[in-house]
Amino acid sequence: MLCLAVLGSGLLATPPAAFAQGPTTTAPAPATPADEPDLVATRFLTSCTGCHTLTEAKLNGPGLAPASTWPVDQLKTAIKRMEKNVGPLKDEELVALAEFIKDRKAPQRLGAEQAKMQARFLAKMAPPDAVLGAGLFAGSRGLLHGGLACAACHSVSGKGGNLGPDLTGIFTKMGGATPLISAIEKANFKIMAPHYQRHPITTQEAIHLTEYFSKIDPKAAVAAPSRFALAGAGLAGLLLAGLTLYLRGQRQTRGRDTKLTRRRK
Ligand code: HEC
Ligand code: HEC
Repeated sequence: MLCLAVLGSGLLATPPAAFAQGPTTTAPAPATPADEPDLVATRFLTSCTGCHTLTEAKLNGPGLAPASTWPVDQLKTAIKRMEKNVGPLKDEELVALAEFIKDRKAPQRLGAEQAKMQARFLAKMAPPDAVLGAGLFAGSRGLLHGGLACAACHSVSGKGGNLGPDLTGIFTKMGGATPLISAIEKANFKIMAPHYQRHPITTQEAIHLTEYFSKIDPKAAVAAPSRFALAGAGLAGLLLAGLTLYLRGQRQTRGRDTKLTRRRK
């Protein structure tokens, strides 16, 4: 799950199937056609984005927008200093990276590479399964790391807990599968965050849950035949047990959680 978060902020612009072809080993051309691997962008993504953005935004290192106006030689010298962070860089790699940073299309190239990596990663997952997702939501199927079932706090079509918002139309609200998968996986919502940091939701689980949410027809909300009706009584118990656990957990690990929460911001 970390993996997707790291690849993460980029959006999945193209469905996995589009990248089914294996990577070939063509040398990076200055203007890389969309379907060929952009090796410099990949290198930048895997070696540099941990510390640098291509904008002005500072991470561990400075944002590289100002440096993009430097002459190639000066950039090469700066990048050479990065060997202490990323290991040896050959001269042609220095040139390629410098030219990449100077390319005005670099942000798009980086975004495309990010999408491809994410697609490759998602392609390794089992296909989305709405029935599994429904089970994870309602709690009839446990989450791998022991997190609370979503229904302890959320309802769908009016059934479930009410500590969190009703999630009936969440697929559309979040803007589709990729943002929703990422939101569920990160669970970076104030009240949810402390609980799921200790019990992370896996990417695979987020994929099933998202598939489930995608199949809910917001208009059929009230009339929907509810599988939660069956779980009704159990759910109330789950809610209580869940909240008790949740609050107890909160109290015990407050120090650590605060630190984690803060670091995420
Ligand atoms: C572990 C963090 C880290 C990694 C990884 C890293 N850098 Fe840096 N980078 C820094 C820091 C800190 C500075 C500022 C200090 C310096 O220039 O040595 C910097 C400075 C730079 C500069 C000069 C920018 C300026 O405005 O001063 C460039 C260009 C640069 N890095 C490129 C890269 C490239 C390309 C990669 C990947 C191959 C990379 N860096 C990997 C931390 C990192
Ligand atoms: C402990 C209670 C709790 C549990 C369990 C929980 N959530 Fe939440 N969730 C919340 C609350 C409360 C919010 C509202 C934002 C906030 O303050 O955290 C929220 C917000 C959300 C949102 C954003 C909703 C919006 O309209 O913006 C999504 C999506 C979401 N939760 C999905 C899930 C999923 C999927 C699960 C199960 C894996 C889950 N939640 C489990 C309490 C919970």
